[in-house]
Amino acid sequence: MCLAQRRERSFQLQALKKNKERGGKDPVCITRLLTVMATIVMERIGRVFISLQQIRELPRMLTDAAPSMPGTVRDTEVPYYFRERYVCTGYRPLYQNWRYYFLSLFQRHNETINIWTHLLALLVILVRLRQLAETVDFVGDPHSWPLLILILSSLTYSAFSAAAHLLGGKSELCHYIFFFLDYVGVAQYQYGSAIVHFYYAVDEGLHRHVRGIFMPAATVLSCLSCLGCCYGKYFNHSLPTWVRKVCQVVPSALAYIWDSSPVAKRLMSSSPASNDPAIIYHFGQVAFFLSCSFFFTFPLLERCFPGRCDFVGQSHQIFHVLLSCCTLCQIHASHLDYVGRRKLYSRLHKSGEAALFVGLYVVTLVGCALVVAFMLKKAKQVLDFKAKSK
Ligand SMILES: *[C@@H]1O[C@H](CO)[C@@H](O)[C@H](O)[C@H]1NC(C)=O
Repeated sequence: MCLAQRRERSFQLQALKKNKERGGKDPVCITRLLTVMATIVMERIGRVFISLQQIRELPRMLTDAAPSMPGTVRDTEVPYYFRERYVCTGYRPLYQNWRYYFLSLFQRHNETINIWTHLLALLVILVRLRQLAETVDFVGDPHSWPLLILILSSLTYSAFSAAAHLLGGKSELCHYIFFFLDYVGVAQYQYGSAIVHFYYAVDEGLHRHVRGIFMPAATVLSCLSCLGCCYGKYFNHSLPTWVRKVCQVVPSALAYIWDSSPVAKRLMSSSPASNDPAIIYHFGQVAFFLSCSFFFTFPLLERCFPGRCDFVGQSHQIFHVLLSCCTLCQIHASHLDYVGRRKLYSRLHKSGEAALFVGLYVVTLVGCALVVAFMLKKAKQVLDFKAKSK
């Protein structure tokens, strides 16, 4: 506001005060009051308009930044261990600054869709959490903590995966760091699945058999599958692809079978007459998971159309989408169980058990962090050795 305007306004305000003293009936003063109000409103609108304009400027600012961004390169121009089979172009160059990799979020390259699929999933899960928080007392009701752990672990794996795809191309060390983190994300999500399945979905018979061991075993299996995945990455290209995949797939498959056994039992023993609203979503989550592990293991589309899926169409992208669908189904099913099976699970799980399982979640996180620290040390030794022998 310039000086003259300010003076005018204070003058008007003074006149208003006088008018009030006189009983507020002076028509000139009422006009003045309206003028002041109109000015204020116009100013506000003007400010909103300016910020809208700034948002409109954003794409242009990005394109302005773009000339300084190096273009993408071919697979033959990046080191061997960065190449993906059947993906020929769209690789971002290595050793750029962090700003480049962050801004590459808006660039067209081989990982764009992989990043955005999980960012979008992250957003949807956040919205879901807000919705649920309206009816579920996540703080005061310990029986809701398993559901909360599932949601938190889903948010974590989506965020870590997006970060890995966004930043893992900076250097070989970054590649290891961020993909190891990605595996931590997956492992703790396995634990998140185990906790809801064991807490809400389990039936009495199975519960009697696995009571004391289910969750500790889930912790161990999560850490093992984190180790297997890191190992597979660590021996990235010195091992044949199938050995690598076995390292990554077998422990994870074991963990999945263990963690989902309560759901499997429930699916098998349910009859159409049982009128269980969650069963269809449990079925959905298993179906989505099986199809997404298929796409994780076999690069089907890019093998059929090599070089045509460099931007969109990679199996890994389909894997991301299906995994997010699986997670959403699982959250929904678990919420339905949380609401509908309260009598059963509050009888099976004594008070304090939920807190114990939350504690085991923290143990899982620590275990995975140790695995990653160990593997990173090994990876760094190899990288240092490589650098020296050059
Ligand atoms: C994409 O390119 C990066 C290098 O910028 C590489 O590390 C990554 O493996 C590639 N990913 C795919 C899916 O092609």
